[in-house]
Amino acid sequence: MHRPNLVMVESTESTQDMAGKMAAEGFPSGAAVMALRQTRGRGRSGSEWISPPGKNLSLSVILRPVIEIRHAPLIGMLASIAVATVVDLACEPYQAFLKWPNDVLIQNRKIAGILSEARITDSSLEFIVLGVGINVNSSVDDFPVEMSDSLTSMSIITGRTFDLRITAERFLEALGELIARVETEGPSFVPSVWEKRWAHKGHSLVRDGIKGTATGIDSDGALLMKLPGGEIVRISSGAILAT
Ligand code: BTN
Repeated sequence: MHRPNLVMVESTESTQDMAGKMAAEGFPSGAAVMALRQTRGRGRSGSEWISPPGKNLSLSVILRPVIEIRHAPLIGMLASIAVATVVDLACEPYQAFLKWPNDVLIQNRKIAGILSEARITDSSLEFIVLGVGINVNSSVDDFPVEMSDSLTSMSIITGRTFDLRITAERFLEALGELIARVETEGPSFVPSVWEKRWAHKGHSLVRDGIKGTATGIDSDGALLMKLPGGEIVRISSGAILAT
């Protein structure tokens, strides 16, 4: 199962930056880089992504999907589905669920996050760099104390240790199958597949102080929230607080 298009480095600032440079140099769709250590790992919304060296999967993959720009968020959601299948396999009988837009949860704790960054040239999507951080072998002591109730890892769930490269290859395999489906039928299947694993469907949510109910995912990946008066609002990005 060895993938020639997966590069492994000991240490880098962020695999996102490495993969972004590789994409700009013309590396093909599917080329990926993983690092045992990131000195400046990035999370969503400008946050830091901190992970103990050698324990977890930090991987970025270049994708060049032929889709409309408005559908680009679906690719991050697709990646969260692929991560969930890998986590399911490793953590059986526990099942992974998803938090909009693309966090992966197990036992109601975050086990993985996705950072999807697109480059748009001349009004078309040139490439996406998909960053995946999976908590693989972290122990509870590796997490900041204030977050130890909201984070988990494959190792904490199962009591086992996992090989990072094999985990990366399983993820790339699962992602490749979903991307192949996008290539043949377009990305319209993504919201319904994603919703099947949605942890918060029908739950109360708060957005900018406004309360509503999470009712669905729109065709471009936006979250649909129903207000108490029945009006449906679309949420395209930003933090959602579960109540
Ligand atoms: C999140 O905030 O949940 C997204 C975290 C994404 C982290 C991954 S680790 C590999 C890649 N390189 C980075 O600097 N970030 C992403």
